[in-house]
Amino acid sequence: MTKNKHEKVTGSSATGESTLFKVLHWSIAVLIVFQGLLGAANLRIAWLQAHLASAIVVHEEIGLLILLLTLSLFIIRIITGRRSGAGAQPSHQLWAKMVHGAFYMLILVECAIGIWMMGLLGKGLTILAWHMPLPMTPDPRFVFSNVLQWHAAVALMLAFLIVIHSGAALYHHYVLRDHTLTRMLPVRLSRTDPKS
Ligand code: HEM
Ligand code: HEM
Repeated sequence: MTKNKHEKVTGSSATGESTLFKVLHWSIAVLIVFQGLLGAANLRIAWLQAHLASAIVVHEEIGLLILLLTLSLFIIRIITGRRSGAGAQPSHQLWAKMVHGAFYMLILVECAIGIWMMGLLGKGLTILAWHMPLPMTPDPRFVFSNVLQWHAAVALMLAFLIVIHSGAALYHHYVLRDHTLTRMLPVRLSRTDPKS
């Protein structure tokens, strides 16, 4: 049987995406949820507020990791010619395309706003032991009066998308009973034929 371009590069088929693609997807999923909770907790939980400088660095480092993983997922998608909602009906493919596109865009925007805030707070970027100042005039008041609210609003949009996206994946699995979800799951959890 001949394999298409996508299957040749990723090892992906109707029964499974490549391991790298799945590891990246689920790492991003876990980190995004953790990141949203950490960002909100940093500003509201007394112990984290007392250690805000370190808590912000942890949030920033995880943010940069999310950025790296998301760009990697996107590059793999381009290299392999992956199509959102492959095998689904055209209207579902369009929805999948829009939701996935919105995910990539919002994650990039959220990280860009975050990096901008690090500059405005006069902190620069810390990547493990390496520190890089950002070429910006510090203005912490602008962060707390404006930019932080935009950052929180984008986080809320991401939370909304996660609910829609997870609901759609479960709808495909339990109602349409197709391979959309199983091909993204770890091998041991996937079923060969969801209809059986
Ligand atoms: C929590 C944060 C999550 C984020 C940020 C996220 C992000 C993404 C992105 C960007 C894609 C498109 C990958 C591509 O084709 O380029 C994708 C695909 C997918 N995600 Fe998620 N995801 C999340 C959670 C979940 C959850 C909880 C589920 C399952 C309940 C799920 C199931 C899927 C499935 C099945 C696909 C493949 C859809 C298709 O082939 O069209 N994701 N996800
Ligand atoms: C490089 C990436 C990022 C940087 C540098 C960054 C930076 C920051 C900073 C400086 C704060 C204020 C202090 C704090 O809570 O730690 C913050 C808050 C926050 N961040 Fe991020 N962030 C990044 C990515 C993200 C991502 C991807 C999310 C998505 C879930 C997120 C969600 C939040 C939330 C929910 C808050 C609290 C907002 C509020 O409640 O007003 N951040 N971020």
